[in-house]
Amino acid sequence: MANSLHFAAALLVAATTVTGQNGSTIGSGPSAAGPTWNHADFESSPPIYPSPNATGLGWSDAFQQASAFVSQLTLEEKARLVTGTPGPCVGNIGAIERLGFNGLCLQDGPLAIREATYASVFPAGLSVAASWDRDLARQRGVDMGQEFRGKGAHVALGPVAGPLGRSGYGGRNWEGFSPDPFLTGELFGMTIEGMESAGVQSCAKHFIGNEQETQRNPSGGPNGGGVGGAVEGPIIQAVSSNIDDRTMHEAYLWPFQNAVHSGVSAVMCSYNRINGSYGCQNSKTLNGLLKDELGFQGFVMSDWAATHSGWPAAEAGLDMDMPGGISFVTASPSFFGGNITASVNNGSLPIERLDDMCRRIMTPYFRLGQNTNYPPIDAAVGGLNFFPVTNYLYNFTEGPANVDVRDDHAELIRELGAAGTVLLKNINNTLPLKTPANVGVFGNDAPDISIGLYFGGDPDVLNVGYDQGVLPVGGGSGTGRMTYVVPPLEAIKSKVFSYNSKALVQYGTNNTEIISNGIFGPLIYPTPPDVCLVFLKTWSTEGYDRSSLEVDWDGSAVVETVAASCPNTVVVTHSGGLNVLPFANNPNVTAILAAHLPGQEVGNSIVDILWGAVNPSGKLPYTIALNENDYSFADITNSTALLKTTDPNAWQSDFEERLLIDYRHFDYFNETVQYEFGYGLSYTTFSMGSASVARVGSGTISAAPANNTIAPGGNPALWDMLYTVSVSVSNTGSVAGATVPQLYLGLPQPANEDYTPVKVLRGFEKVTLQPGESQTVTFSLTRRDISYWDTFAQQWIIGSSSIGVLAGFSSRDIQTTTTFTPLASSSGSGSGSPSPAPYSSSSRGSGSPSPTPSSGYGGAGGYDDHAGPWHWSSSENHPSHWGPPAAKQ
Ligand code: BGC
Repeated sequence: MANSLHFAAALLVAATTVTGQNGSTIGSGPSAAGPTWNHADFESSPPIYPSPNATGLGWSDAFQQASAFVSQLTLEEKARLVTGTPGPCVGNIGAIERLGFNGLCLQDGPLAIREATYASVFPAGLSVAASWDRDLARQRGVDMGQEFRGKGAHVALGPVAGPLGRSGYGGRNWEGFSPDPFLTGELFGMTIEGMESAGVQSCAKHFIGNEQETQRNPSGGPNGGGVGGAVEGPIIQAVSSNIDDRTMHEAYLWPFQNAVHSGVSAVMCSYNRINGSYGCQNSKTLNGLLKDELGFQGFVMSDWAATHSGWPAAEAGLDMDMPGGISFVTASPSFFGGNITASVNNGSLPIERLDDMCRRIMTPYFRLGQNTNYPPIDAAVGGLNFFPVTNYLYNFTEGPANVDVRDDHAELIRELGAAGTVLLKNINNTLPLKTPANVGVFGNDAPDISIGLYFGGDPDVLNVGYDQGVLPVGGGSGTGRMTYVVPPLEAIKSKVFSYNSKALVQYGTNNTEIISNGIFGPLIYPTPPDVCLVFLKTWSTEGYDRSSLEVDWDGSAVVETVAASCPNTVVVTHSGGLNVLPFANNPNVTAILAAHLPGQEVGNSIVDILWGAVNPSGKLPYTIALNENDYSFADITNSTALLKTTDPNAWQSDFEERLLIDYRHFDYFNETVQYEFGYGLSYTTFSMGSASVARVGSGTISAAPANNTIAPGGNPALWDMLYTVSVSVSNTGSVAGATVPQLYLGLPQPANEDYTPVKVLRGFEKVTLQPGESQTVTFSLTRRDISYWDTFAQQWIIGSSSIGVLAGFSSRDIQTTTTFTPLASSSGSGSGSPSPAPYSSSSRGSGSPSPTPSSGYGGAGGYDDHAGPWHWSSSENHPSHWGPPAAKQ
């Protein structure tokens, strides 16, 4: 009975049905004609015990140092090392002075050292994704790493690949990169490599399935979830992201595999449950996927108050509890701390597990040489974080206050802000602007910020940054404290007056005023300016860390009003992700730029694009659909009934769309979109020659990778390069510019597996070309790139039929196609022959035909159905689900 109630609740919140071109449906539960989603298959997560011990693989010197250090610790000191404590940073580990260990300082976040003075605020991950530029991603990582280090932070709590961006409505998608796992994986990995090269530990977060903010934590009950939640009644558990095994591997886990391969030091487990079991107590995801399958050698820390038990969480793979105290600000009570000592003493927690936790925590510290000459914690940060000094239990090594760590990083910020700006529309040669002498500027996103340079959190609650002022980055823990911002209006004035001191720059920045009274009258002199620049910002209605799709924004009305009077209206959006642009086809809207979240140099970055100092080369890292509800195939789980539920297990988010998120959905269902994934214009034009495929190495390729010792990143054979695909790209226009040739693969549909997307991104390069110049671009394909996750074999397998190669300038602007068949080839080059119809080029708005799914197939089921070689069967005392074990110890 309880189960059917849960199921009914799940159905209620996933009621949207999308009909595909072939009549199949998806997202409608058991009545779907497509792969039937049987909720019961995904309600539980298998127990994977014991937690794999780190062996220091790849980090052997540091591992030995860590082992030597840990061997000297008392039990109490070990407990201290794994438990957060009040201190100057957002997360703190207390010092062990007798061994010369000064403790650890952990600081947010993914685009800046958040709580700090005199630090830079970089473009958000979303802007990095829109740049499609590995080099800039890496350099941003280096620059950010230097700033964390300069402030004495040992661990930077970023970058983000969870959320991946399953739902267009997701409130924190902008902190990460792209809903495409390959694009995210590449840029996630480069960011990590950059940060670690600067000597700071990076932390890949939030692991895993953290795809919505709504009910991310438990609510209700006398102690409902640590942060607030002191409402009487049953504890309503956090939302459960229910994910099938193949989708887990090919979508959500994929970028984390890159992170581990790139040497990430830490992983932050997430607030949500995954298949019924909390992210920080899920032995399948932590022990099984992360530590065993991916060979992760660093440590897992909890998200802040995502720990729900002591030794059971440790046994499930959690290595560090943050912020330590259940109440956040005091050291105790804690699920860890004294309970760890007690659990070892009473035999509940093996000392070997605790030793492994400690070694995992200390290995990255020694690997990066943080034991010698590490800068002290900036004395100004303590006042910005939330722990009262009176709650500190340990001494923290604080140095001078207000150390300026910004260096020349503003240059990269300006460059990357422009590189992450996507030109969506440009008719009548509107852009680049020449020397307009009468410029109008409109919209509340154009002027300076009126209520402070720090976007603390929820705009509805705090009214921070939402009304007047540009939106350079999102809010909450993913934000940064700006030392200045360059507002678009000021940057435009400087630019215009630099070439014409007598020019007019007139403006109106009050959206209500514009919509009510139009642009003429009090706002500007009644002659249409040569160009009207409209600046819009959108902020999501989901979650507390907002900035994605704004459902009820007034920006569209502002554009329509301006465009009604101004035949040359250019729209610039600052937003955290998906938008719909209902004005896109208005003929008076002559250009549109998606400028994402470019950081503190926002105004300069956009002026560089508008006046052509920088030729736009950004590409959409997501799809802009026609209508808001086009994204509803992967909606946020929420409902009035859920908000009132008394069923602890009611919050269920079934990822029924499986692999078909973002463009994979729109392609599969052949839906018209406004601007497709990978799309973006330039001030020049490019062409692409035919694709050629070459085998790297020789010999027969096996379907499965050879059995190898697992290394960080998983089976090393998965990273073997098996093929290259080359295309030649030419600049056919009259100005220099950069573009992003993109490689998609049409992977075969395996028998008895869920739908394979029509095509998936598997290569991209940013190339800069002078007019008339050509360059050959070569994409490398690894074994993983051409494999699918076989849920029965529990292995990456190369399919037996041919693989379609589709190269072009966007997901729907395919310029050249071919095929190759890995399992048939023994050596030499692959074929260069044109591919059959399914891979033919299709233009934007029409989509590619999708393969017909095998009807009636019931799906491969959840983890429980396919016990793999790593399943440990004696699970008696190891709870893998939410519930009673979460009780305080
Ligand atoms: C966020 C994390 C963040 C932590 C510390 C949590 O609420 O989800 O991303 O690192 O707080 O501020």
